[in-house]
Amino acid sequence: MKSKKNIVLVGMMGSGKSSIGKLLSKKIGLEFIDIDKLIEEEENKSISDIFKINGEKYFRDLEEKISIKKLKSENKVISLGGGGYINQKIRKQTQLGSITVWLNWKTSTLIDRIKDSKKRPVVTKLKISEIKSLIEERAKIYNSSDFKINCDKLKKNEIVDTIISLYESK
Ligand code: S3P
Repeated sequence: MKSKKNIVLVGMMGSGKSSIGKLLSKKIGLEFIDIDKLIEEEENKSISDIFKINGEKYFRDLEEKISIKKLKSENKVISLGGGGYINQKIRKQTQLGSITVWLNWKTSTLIDRIKDSKKRPVVTKLKISEIKSLIEERAKIYNSSDFKINCDKLKKNEIVDTIISLYESK
């Protein structure tokens, strides 16, 4: 394989970055790094508890530090947290040694998946209309990724194969 770049999955909560990332890493034979999981391990707490106990700013600072550090590696599959790519410093780092792939879904699909989730502190207090606005605002930024995959009509393995062919054509 010629490329040494990381494959970085971006997109909203509920877009399958972790599950697709795991499958992709197995199929392509690259190590998988799940940033949310690393944050939870470093703090020995769930993301919800970090938000509750330490606050969002603390979480975002840690997310920035860990994401930037990991993005400096090579040949990894990396799943960013949904807000990771929204951070300009993290986004800049993805431009240096990674290809970014946005897992895009219809807004209604994402809303159905995340609206009742207890594990997603960013949306627990939001009304449906506010979640919709958040998705639309973020989409403008996710749209600057190198590749966008419209996932609604695809099976998981088709999403994985699409990512592999994009990566290998680079
Ligand atoms: C967040 C998404 C979550 C997690 C945190 C904040 C966000 O990750 O990082 O709850 O701001 O979109 P997932 O996208 O993996 O759910």
